Amino acid sequence: MPKITFVEFDGTKTTVDAQEGESVMSVAVANGIDAVVAECGGSMMCATCHCYVDDAWAEKTGERMDGEDDMLECAASELRETSRLSCQIKITDELDGLIVHLPEDQI
Ligand code: FES
Repeated sequence: MPKITFVEFDGTKTTVDAQEGESVMSVAVANGIDAVVAECGGSMMCATCHCYVDDAWAEKTGERMDGEDDMLECAASELRETSRLSCQIKITDELDGLIVHLPEDQI
């Protein structure tokens, strides 16, 4: 079962179990990580699930999906090269140990 670590803006780290096929966003919401708001429920319509993939994992999580760049332009916090919509990152066994950092604001 892959483990994901969320690092909030204040440095709080939470490591949780995830199921293959889930999105990083749904894992965050299911585990009460409030720094992921996910207003649209994962349909790429809100950018309130913005995260920064840890540099060491950026390659493994792959490229942004079609339309993700446009939605990220609406994110409340600064964009970085590693910015992703967490609802568009699907968990695989390869992502066991994934670390994602969460921005200060989502709204
Ligand atoms: S949950 Fe709305 S874009 Fe990801």
